[in-house]
Amino acid sequence: MIKLNYEHVLHEIDFKKYRPKLEKINAGINNKTGAGNDYLGWADWPVNYDKGEFELIKKNAQKIREKYDTLVVTGIGGSYLGARAAIEAINGLMPQKGVEIIFLGHTFSPTLTAQTLDYLKTRNFAINVISKSGTTTETSIAFRLLKKLLIAKVGKKKASEAIFATTDAKTGALRKLATQNGYTTFTLPSDIGGRYSVLTAVGLLPLAVAGINIDELMAGALKARAESYQNLDHDVYKYAVIRDTLYRKGYKSELYVVYEPQYTMINEWLKQLYGESEGKEKKGLFPSSVSFSTDLHSLGQFIQEGSPILFETTLFVDNPNQDVDVPFENEDLDELNYLAGKGLGFVNKQAFQGTLAAHVKDGGVPNLVFTTNKLDAYTLGYMFYFFMRSCAVSAYLLDINPFNQPGVEVYKKNMFALLGKPKQK
Ligand code: PA5
Repeated sequence: MIKLNYEHVLHEIDFKKYRPKLEKINAGINNKTGAGNDYLGWADWPVNYDKGEFELIKKNAQKIREKYDTLVVTGIGGSYLGARAAIEAINGLMPQKGVEIIFLGHTFSPTLTAQTLDYLKTRNFAINVISKSGTTTETSIAFRLLKKLLIAKVGKKKASEAIFATTDAKTGALRKLATQNGYTTFTLPSDIGGRYSVLTAVGLLPLAVAGINIDELMAGALKARAESYQNLDHDVYKYAVIRDTLYRKGYKSELYVVYEPQYTMINEWLKQLYGESEGKEKKGLFPSSVSFSTDLHSLGQFIQEGSPILFETTLFVDNPNQDVDVPFENEDLDELNYLAGKGLGFVNKQAFQGTLAAHVKDGGVPNLVFTTNKLDAYTLGYMFYFFMRSCAVSAYLLDINPFNQPGVEVYKKNMFALLGKPKQK
Protein backbone atom coordinates (compact mmCIF):
# COMPACT_ATOMS: atom_id res chain seq x y z
CA MET A 1 0.00 0.00 0.00
CA ILE A 2 1.04 3.59 -0.47
CA LYS A 3 1.96 5.89 2.41
CA LEU A 4 2.00 9.69 2.30
CA ASN A 5 4.90 11.58 3.86
CA TYR A 6 4.32 15.33 4.09
CA GLU A 7 7.16 16.37 6.37
CA HIS A 8 8.78 18.26 3.45
CA VAL A 9 5.77 20.35 2.57
CA LEU A 10 7.37 23.56 3.98
CA HIS A 11 4.05 25.14 4.95
CA GLU A 12 1.70 24.89 7.90
CA ILE A 13 -1.31 22.73 7.01
CA ASP A 14 -4.40 23.46 9.06
CA PHE A 15 -6.22 20.11 8.80
CA LYS A 16 -8.68 21.15 11.52
CA LYS A 17 -9.94 24.10 9.53
CA TYR A 18 -10.88 21.82 6.62
CA ARG A 19 -12.80 19.32 8.75
CA PRO A 20 -16.34 20.75 8.33
CA LYS A 21 -15.83 21.11 4.57
CA LEU A 22 -14.51 17.54 4.31
CA GLU A 23 -17.46 16.19 6.25
CA LYS A 24 -19.85 17.81 3.80
CA ILE A 25 -17.89 16.72 0.75
CA ASN A 26 -17.56 13.16 1.94
CA ALA A 27 -21.25 12.90 2.71
CA GLY A 28 -21.88 14.16 -0.84
CA ILE A 29 -19.74 11.31 -2.21
CA ASN A 30 -21.16 8.60 0.05
CA ASN A 31 -24.81 9.67 -0.32
CA LYS A 32 -24.37 10.48 -4.01
CA THR A 33 -25.59 14.04 -3.61
CA GLY A 34 -22.40 15.92 -4.60
CA ALA A 35 -22.15 17.91 -7.85
CA GLY A 36 -22.11 15.60 -10.87
CA ASN A 37 -23.74 12.88 -8.79
CA ASP A 38 -24.75 10.94 -11.91
CA TYR A 39 -21.09 9.99 -12.16
CA LEU A 40 -20.32 8.84 -8.63
CA GLY A 41 -20.62 5.14 -9.49
CA TRP A 42 -16.85 4.59 -9.05
CA ALA A 43 -17.07 5.38 -5.30
CA ASP A 44 -18.79 2.08 -4.37
CA TRP A 45 -17.58 0.12 -7.38
CA PRO A 46 -15.05 -2.04 -5.45
CA VAL A 47 -18.05 -3.35 -3.49
CA ASN A 48 -20.78 -3.23 -6.15
CA TYR A 49 -18.96 -4.28 -9.29
CA ASP A 50 -20.72 -6.79 -11.51
CA LYS A 51 -19.29 -10.14 -10.35
CA GLY A 52 -20.81 -11.99 -13.31
CA GLU A 53 -19.12 -9.73 -15.82
CA PHE A 54 -15.89 -9.96 -13.82
CA GLU A 55 -15.83 -13.76 -14.30
CA LEU A 56 -16.57 -13.30 -18.02
CA ILE A 57 -13.66 -10.89 -18.29
CA LYS A 58 -11.32 -13.51 -16.80
CA LYS A 59 -12.71 -16.22 -19.07
CA ASN A 60 -12.33 -14.12 -22.20
CA ALA A 61 -8.88 -12.92 -21.16
CA GLN A 62 -7.82 -16.56 -20.87
CA LYS A 63 -9.28 -17.25 -24.32
CA ILE A 64 -7.35 -14.32 -25.78
CA ARG A 65 -4.15 -15.53 -24.10
CA GLU A 66 -4.60 -18.99 -25.62
CA LYS A 67 -5.63 -17.95 -29.14
CA TYR A 68 -3.69 -14.77 -29.95
CA ASP A 69 -0.14 -13.44 -29.60
CA THR A 70 -1.12 -9.74 -29.58
CA LEU A 71 -3.95 -7.60 -28.21
CA VAL A 72 -4.47 -4.14 -29.65
CA VAL A 73 -6.12 -1.93 -27.04
CA THR A 74 -7.90 0.86 -28.88
CA GLY A 75 -8.99 3.82 -26.79
CA ILE A 76 -8.01 7.31 -25.63
CA GLY A 77 -7.97 9.29 -22.37
CA GLY A 78 -9.79 7.44 -19.61
CA SER A 79 -10.46 4.61 -22.04
CA TYR A 80 -6.77 3.68 -22.19
CA LEU A 81 -4.45 5.45 -19.74
CA GLY A 82 -5.25 3.36 -16.64
CA ALA A 83 -4.74 0.04 -18.40
CA ARG A 84 -1.48 1.19 -19.94
CA ALA A 85 -0.25 2.61 -16.63
CA ALA A 86 -0.91 -0.65 -14.77
CA ILE A 87 0.44 -2.94 -17.49
CA GLU A 88 3.69 -1.00 -17.85
CA ALA A 89 4.12 -0.59 -14.08
CA ILE A 90 3.80 -4.31 -13.44
CA ASN A 91 5.19 -5.93 -16.58
CA GLY A 92 7.84 -3.32 -17.37
CA LEU A 93 8.57 -1.77 -20.75
CA MET A 94 10.21 -4.79 -22.36
CA PRO A 95 8.24 -7.83 -21.21
CA GLN A 96 9.52 -11.05 -22.75
CA LYS A 97 6.56 -13.29 -21.99
CA GLY A 98 2.83 -13.46 -22.61
CA VAL A 99 0.52 -11.70 -25.02
CA GLU A 100 1.98 -8.50 -26.45
CA ILE A 101 -0.21 -5.49 -25.65
CA ILE A 102 -0.18 -2.68 -28.19
CA PHE A 103 -2.04 0.63 -27.89
CA LEU A 104 -3.63 2.51 -30.77
CA GLY A 105 -6.61 4.84 -31.03
CA HIS A 106 -5.07 7.50 -28.75
CA THR A 107 -3.64 9.56 -31.62
CA PHE A 108 -4.13 10.70 -35.22
CA SER A 109 -0.41 10.11 -35.86
CA PRO A 110 -0.20 8.90 -39.47
CA THR A 111 3.26 7.40 -38.92
CA LEU A 112 2.49 5.48 -35.73
CA THR A 113 -0.76 4.23 -37.24
CA ALA A 114 0.91 3.09 -40.47
CA GLN A 115 3.78 1.41 -38.60
CA THR A 116 1.42 -0.36 -36.19
CA LEU A 117 -0.75 -1.63 -39.05
CA ASP A 118 2.34 -2.88 -40.89
CA TYR A 119 3.61 -4.63 -37.78
CA LEU A 120 0.23 -6.26 -37.16
CA LYS A 121 0.28 -7.87 -40.62
CA THR A 122 2.71 -10.37 -39.12
CA ARG A 123 0.85 -10.86 -35.82
CA ASN A 124 -2.08 -13.03 -34.81
CA PHE A 125 -4.01 -10.27 -33.11
CA ALA A 126 -7.26 -9.55 -31.29
CA ILE A 127 -8.73 -6.08 -30.68
CA ASN A 128 -10.20 -4.60 -27.53
CA VAL A 129 -11.94 -1.42 -28.67
CA ILE A 130 -12.88 0.80 -25.73
CA SER A 131 -15.08 3.87 -25.96
CA LYS A 132 -17.90 4.93 -23.70
CA SER A 133 -19.42 7.33 -26.22
CA GLY A 134 -18.51 5.14 -29.17
CA THR A 135 -17.92 8.25 -31.23
CA THR A 136 -14.42 9.39 -30.26
CA THR A 137 -12.72 10.19 -33.57
CA GLU A 138 -9.18 8.95 -32.79
CA THR A 139 -10.51 5.62 -31.52
CA SER A 140 -13.13 5.20 -34.26
CA ILE A 141 -10.62 5.79 -37.08
CA ALA A 142 -8.08 3.39 -35.56
CA PHE A 143 -10.78 0.76 -35.05
CA ARG A 144 -12.01 1.10 -38.63
CA LEU A 145 -8.43 0.53 -39.89
CA LEU A 146 -7.73 -2.36 -37.52
CA LYS A 147 -11.03 -4.03 -38.39
CA LYS A 148 -10.28 -3.74 -42.11
CA LEU A 149 -6.85 -5.32 -41.63
CA LEU A 150 -8.22 -8.10 -39.46
CA ILE A 151 -11.01 -8.96 -41.92
CA ALA A 152 -8.48 -8.98 -44.78
CA LYS A 153 -6.29 -11.37 -42.78
CA VAL A 154 -8.79 -13.83 -41.30
CA GLY A 155 -12.22 -13.14 -42.85
CA LYS A 156 -15.32 -11.53 -41.39
CA LYS A 157 -16.40 -14.33 -39.06
CA LYS A 158 -13.03 -14.88 -37.37
CA ALA A 159 -12.51 -11.13 -37.19
CA SER A 160 -15.79 -10.73 -35.30
CA GLU A 161 -14.65 -13.44 -32.87
CA ALA A 162 -11.39 -11.54 -32.28
CA ILE A 163 -13.04 -8.21 -31.48
CA PHE A 164 -13.95 -7.34 -27.90
CA ALA A 165 -15.83 -4.08 -27.37
CA THR A 166 -16.06 -2.20 -24.07
CA THR A 167 -18.69 0.53 -24.20
CA ASP A 168 -21.84 1.97 -22.65
CA ALA A 169 -24.48 -0.65 -21.78
CA LYS A 170 -27.12 0.69 -24.15
CA THR A 171 -26.21 3.77 -26.16
CA GLY A 172 -23.61 4.80 -28.70
CA ALA A 173 -22.30 3.87 -32.11
CA LEU A 174 -19.93 1.19 -30.79
CA ARG A 175 -22.74 -0.61 -28.97
CA LYS A 176 -24.70 -0.66 -32.25
CA LEU A 177 -21.69 -1.89 -34.23
CA ALA A 178 -20.98 -4.60 -31.67
CA THR A 179 -24.56 -5.85 -31.65
CA GLN A 180 -24.74 -5.92 -35.44
CA ASN A 181 -21.47 -7.82 -35.81
CA GLY A 182 -21.75 -10.12 -32.81
CA TYR A 183 -18.64 -8.88 -30.98
CA THR A 184 -18.17 -9.95 -27.36
CA THR A 185 -19.02 -6.87 -25.30
CA PHE A 186 -18.24 -5.52 -21.86
CA THR A 187 -19.87 -2.61 -20.11
CA LEU A 188 -18.69 0.76 -18.97
CA PRO A 189 -21.42 1.62 -16.44
CA SER A 190 -23.35 4.80 -17.23
CA ASP A 191 -22.56 6.32 -13.80
CA ILE A 192 -18.76 6.02 -14.22
CA GLY A 193 -16.86 8.49 -16.43
CA GLY A 194 -13.78 7.60 -18.48
CA ARG A 195 -11.08 8.83 -16.11
CA TYR A 196 -12.73 7.02 -13.17
CA SER A 197 -13.14 3.76 -15.11
CA VAL A 198 -9.84 1.90 -14.71
CA LEU A 199 -11.37 -0.63 -12.29
CA THR A 200 -14.19 -1.50 -14.73
CA ALA A 201 -13.90 -3.68 -17.85
CA VAL A 202 -12.04 -0.72 -19.41
CA GLY A 203 -8.95 -1.60 -17.40
CA LEU A 204 -9.77 -5.14 -16.32
CA LEU A 205 -9.81 -6.90 -19.70
CA PRO A 206 -6.45 -5.57 -20.97
CA LEU A 207 -4.90 -6.15 -17.54
CA ALA A 208 -6.13 -9.72 -17.32
CA VAL A 209 -4.85 -10.42 -20.85
CA ALA A 210 -1.48 -8.99 -19.77
CA GLY A 211 -1.38 -11.64 -17.04
CA ILE A 212 -2.12 -9.27 -14.16
CA ASN A 213 -4.14 -10.64 -11.25
CA ILE A 214 -7.36 -8.61 -11.36
CA ASP A 215 -8.73 -10.27 -8.20
CA GLU A 216 -5.79 -8.71 -6.37
CA LEU A 217 -6.37 -5.37 -8.09
CA MET A 218 -10.00 -5.26 -6.92
CA ALA A 219 -8.99 -6.41 -3.42
CA GLY A 220 -6.58 -3.46 -3.20
CA ALA A 221 -9.30 -1.05 -4.35
CA LEU A 222 -11.73 -2.50 -1.83
CA LYS A 223 -9.19 -1.96 0.94
CA ALA A 224 -8.71 1.69 -0.06
CA ARG A 225 -12.46 2.23 -0.12
CA ALA A 226 -13.00 0.55 3.25
CA GLU A 227 -10.23 2.62 4.86
CA SER A 228 -11.25 5.96 3.40
CA TYR A 229 -15.04 5.67 3.29
CA GLN A 230 -15.59 7.41 6.62
CA ASN A 231 -12.16 8.12 8.05
CA LEU A 232 -11.43 11.78 7.33
CA ASP A 233 -7.96 11.40 8.89
CA HIS A 234 -7.01 9.09 6.03
CA ASP A 235 -4.24 10.11 3.61
CA VAL A 236 -6.91 10.39 0.88
CA TYR A 237 -8.19 13.56 2.58
CA LYS A 238 -4.81 14.76 3.86
CA TYR A 239 -3.46 14.72 0.32
CA ALA A 240 -6.47 16.75 -0.93
CA VAL A 241 -6.10 19.28 1.90
CA ILE A 242 -2.35 19.74 1.36
CA ARG A 243 -2.81 20.28 -2.40
CA ASP A 244 -5.59 22.77 -1.74
CA THR A 245 -3.50 24.65 0.84
CA LEU A 246 -0.51 24.88 -1.50
CA TYR A 247 -2.75 26.00 -4.37
CA ARG A 248 -4.20 28.79 -2.23
CA LYS A 249 -0.67 29.81 -1.19
CA GLY A 250 0.11 30.53 -4.84
CA TYR A 251 1.57 27.31 -6.23
CA LYS A 252 0.05 26.83 -9.65
CA SER A 253 1.42 23.46 -10.70
CA GLU A 254 1.77 20.02 -9.16
CA LEU A 255 4.69 18.08 -10.61
CA TYR A 256 4.26 14.31 -10.46
CA VAL A 257 7.60 12.55 -10.08
CA VAL A 258 8.48 8.90 -10.66
CA TYR A 259 11.88 7.22 -10.62
CA GLU A 260 11.45 4.54 -13.29
CA PRO A 261 10.32 4.97 -16.92
CA GLN A 262 7.82 2.11 -16.49
CA TYR A 263 5.84 4.40 -14.16
CA THR A 264 5.61 7.28 -16.64
CA MET A 265 2.08 6.28 -17.63
CA ILE A 266 1.01 6.50 -13.98
CA ASN A 267 1.97 10.16 -14.27
CA GLU A 268 -0.11 10.39 -17.44
CA TRP A 269 -3.10 8.77 -15.73
CA LEU A 270 -2.79 11.19 -12.80
CA LYS A 271 -2.45 14.18 -15.11
CA GLN A 272 -5.66 13.30 -16.94
CA LEU A 273 -7.53 12.50 -13.74
CA TYR A 274 -6.62 15.78 -12.06
CA GLY A 275 -6.45 17.97 -15.16
CA GLU A 276 -9.91 17.08 -16.45
CA SER A 277 -11.49 16.91 -13.00
CA GLU A 278 -10.17 20.21 -11.58
CA GLY A 279 -9.16 22.49 -14.43
CA LYS A 280 -12.36 24.47 -14.84
CA GLU A 281 -13.74 27.97 -14.13
CA LYS A 282 -10.17 29.33 -14.30
CA LYS A 283 -9.21 27.25 -11.25
CA GLY A 284 -7.05 24.23 -10.45
CA LEU A 285 -3.42 23.17 -10.20
CA PHE A 286 -1.80 22.45 -13.55
CA PRO A 287 -0.71 18.79 -13.35
CA SER A 288 2.71 18.19 -14.87
CA SER A 289 5.17 15.32 -14.64
CA VAL A 290 8.76 14.14 -14.82
CA SER A 291 10.57 10.84 -14.77
CA PHE A 292 13.79 10.97 -12.73
CA SER A 293 16.68 10.64 -12.92
CA THR A 294 16.23 11.11 -16.69
CA ASP A 295 14.56 14.51 -16.34
CA LEU A 296 17.02 15.71 -13.71
CA HIS A 297 19.22 16.20 -16.78
CA SER A 298 16.62 18.42 -18.43
CA LEU A 299 14.02 19.95 -16.09
CA GLY A 300 16.04 19.46 -12.90
CA GLN A 301 17.63 22.88 -13.24
CA PHE A 302 14.26 24.65 -13.45
CA ILE A 303 12.81 22.74 -10.52
CA GLN A 304 15.86 23.58 -8.39
CA GLU A 305 16.21 27.28 -9.23
CA GLY A 306 13.45 28.43 -11.60
CA SER A 307 10.16 30.28 -10.96
CA PRO A 308 8.67 29.06 -7.65
CA ILE A 309 5.37 28.01 -9.20
CA LEU A 310 5.30 24.32 -8.39
CA PHE A 311 5.42 21.65 -5.76
CA GLU A 312 6.41 18.03 -6.31
CA THR A 313 4.47 14.86 -5.56
CA THR A 314 6.77 11.86 -5.79
CA LEU A 315 5.80 8.22 -6.04
CA PHE A 316 8.77 6.13 -4.95
CA VAL A 317 8.70 2.33 -5.12
CA ASP A 318 11.17 0.78 -2.66
CA ASN A 319 11.61 -2.60 -4.31
CA PRO A 320 12.02 -2.68 -8.08
CA ASN A 321 10.58 -5.69 -9.96
CA GLN A 322 14.08 -6.64 -11.05
CA ASP A 323 17.57 -5.39 -10.22
CA VAL A 324 21.03 -5.36 -11.78
CA ASP A 325 24.34 -5.04 -9.89
CA VAL A 326 27.14 -2.75 -11.04
CA PRO A 327 30.03 -5.07 -12.07
CA PHE A 328 33.63 -4.83 -10.79
CA GLU A 329 36.40 -4.03 -13.28
CA ASN A 330 40.12 -4.48 -12.59
CA GLU A 331 41.20 -1.30 -14.34
CA ASP A 332 38.43 0.96 -12.97
CA LEU A 333 39.08 3.61 -15.62
CA ASP A 334 35.51 4.85 -15.26
CA GLU A 335 36.03 5.01 -11.45
CA LEU A 336 32.87 3.10 -10.72
CA ASN A 337 34.35 0.37 -8.52
CA TYR A 338 33.06 2.17 -5.43
CA LEU A 339 29.64 0.99 -6.62
CA ALA A 340 30.66 -2.54 -7.58
CA GLY A 341 28.23 -5.11 -6.20
CA LYS A 342 25.58 -2.46 -5.51
CA GLY A 343 22.22 -2.76 -7.29
CA LEU A 344 20.78 -0.06 -9.56
CA GLY A 345 17.80 -0.06 -7.20
CA PHE A 346 20.14 1.14 -4.44
CA VAL A 347 21.68 3.79 -6.71
CA ASN A 348 18.21 4.97 -7.75
CA LYS A 349 17.16 5.30 -4.11
CA GLN A 350 20.18 7.46 -3.27
CA ALA A 351 19.33 9.60 -6.33
CA PHE A 352 15.81 10.03 -4.93
CA GLN A 353 17.02 10.97 -1.45
CA GLY A 354 19.68 13.33 -2.77
CA THR A 355 17.18 15.00 -5.07
CA LEU A 356 14.57 15.36 -2.36
CA ALA A 357 17.08 17.09 -0.07
CA ALA A 358 18.30 19.35 -2.90
CA HIS A 359 14.82 20.42 -3.99
CA VAL A 360 13.45 20.91 -0.48
CA LYS A 361 16.42 22.35 1.43
CA ASP A 362 18.25 24.26 -1.27
CA GLY A 363 15.43 24.85 -3.76
CA GLY A 364 12.61 25.56 -1.29
CA VAL A 365 10.25 23.39 -3.34
CA PRO A 366 7.49 21.75 -1.24
CA ASN A 367 7.53 17.98 -1.62
CA LEU A 368 4.92 15.33 -0.95
CA VAL A 369 6.18 11.77 -1.06
CA PHE A 370 4.18 8.61 -1.59
CA THR A 371 6.15 5.46 -0.88
CA THR A 372 5.31 1.82 -1.34
CA ASN A 373 7.27 -1.39 -0.87
CA LYS A 374 6.39 -2.68 -4.29
CA LEU A 375 3.98 -1.83 -7.07
CA ASP A 376 1.94 -5.00 -7.62
CA ALA A 377 -1.71 -5.51 -8.65
CA TYR A 378 -2.98 -5.11 -5.08
CA THR A 379 -1.08 -1.85 -4.51
CA LEU A 380 -2.14 -0.49 -7.88
CA GLY A 381 -5.81 -1.25 -7.13
CA TYR A 382 -5.38 0.56 -3.82
CA MET A 383 -3.60 3.44 -5.50
CA PHE A 384 -6.14 3.90 -8.31
CA TYR A 385 -9.02 4.11 -5.83
CA PHE A 386 -7.01 6.34 -3.48
CA PHE A 387 -6.32 8.93 -6.17
CA MET A 388 -9.82 8.85 -7.68
CA ARG A 389 -11.39 9.55 -4.30
CA SER A 390 -8.81 12.15 -3.35
CA CYS A 391 -9.20 13.86 -6.72
CA ALA A 392 -12.98 14.12 -6.35
CA VAL A 393 -12.46 15.63 -2.86
CA SER A 394 -9.88 18.08 -4.27
CA ALA A 395 -12.25 19.27 -6.99
CA TYR A 396 -15.08 19.68 -4.49
CA LEU A 397 -12.74 21.77 -2.30
CA LEU A 398 -12.53 24.13 -5.29
CA ASP A 399 -16.34 24.04 -5.69
CA ILE A 400 -15.98 22.31 -9.01
CA ASN A 401 -17.92 19.39 -10.53
CA PRO A 402 -15.15 16.76 -10.87
CA PHE A 403 -16.96 14.66 -13.45
CA ASN A 404 -17.60 16.83 -16.49
CA GLN A 405 -15.15 18.17 -19.08
CA PRO A 406 -16.95 20.98 -20.94
CA GLY A 407 -13.68 22.46 -22.21
CA VAL A 408 -12.74 19.35 -24.18
CA GLU A 409 -15.58 19.90 -26.63
CA VAL A 410 -14.29 23.23 -27.98
CA TYR A 411 -11.38 21.86 -30.03
CA LYS A 412 -13.60 19.06 -31.33
CA LYS A 413 -16.17 21.56 -32.62
CA ASN A 414 -13.47 23.48 -34.50
CA MET A 415 -11.83 20.31 -35.82
CA PHE A 416 -15.13 18.89 -37.06
CA ALA A 417 -15.96 22.17 -38.84
CA LEU A 418 -12.54 22.09 -40.54
CA LEU A 419 -12.96 18.43 -41.47
CA GLY A 420 -16.42 19.09 -42.91
CA LYS A 421 -18.23 16.65 -40.62
CA PRO A 422 -21.92 16.55 -41.56
CA LYS A 423 -24.28 17.90 -38.92
CA GLN A 424 -25.98 15.16 -36.86
CA LYS A 425 -29.43 14.26 -38.07
O1 PA5 B 1 -12.40 11.01 -18.76
C1 PA5 B 1 -13.04 11.14 -19.78
O2 PA5 B 1 -14.27 11.16 -19.79
C2 PA5 B 1 -12.36 11.23 -21.14
O3 PA5 B 1 -10.99 11.31 -21.04
C3 PA5 B 1 -12.71 10.03 -21.99
O4 PA5 B 1 -12.29 8.88 -21.33
C4 PA5 B 1 -12.06 10.09 -23.36
O5 PA5 B 1 -12.38 11.29 -23.99
C5 PA5 B 1 -12.52 8.93 -24.24
O6 PA5 B 1 -13.91 8.93 -24.38
P1 PA5 B 1 -14.69 7.67 -24.91
O7 PA5 B 1 -14.53 6.56 -23.94
O8 PA5 B 1 -16.12 8.12 -25.00
O9 PA5 B 1 -14.12 7.32 -26.25
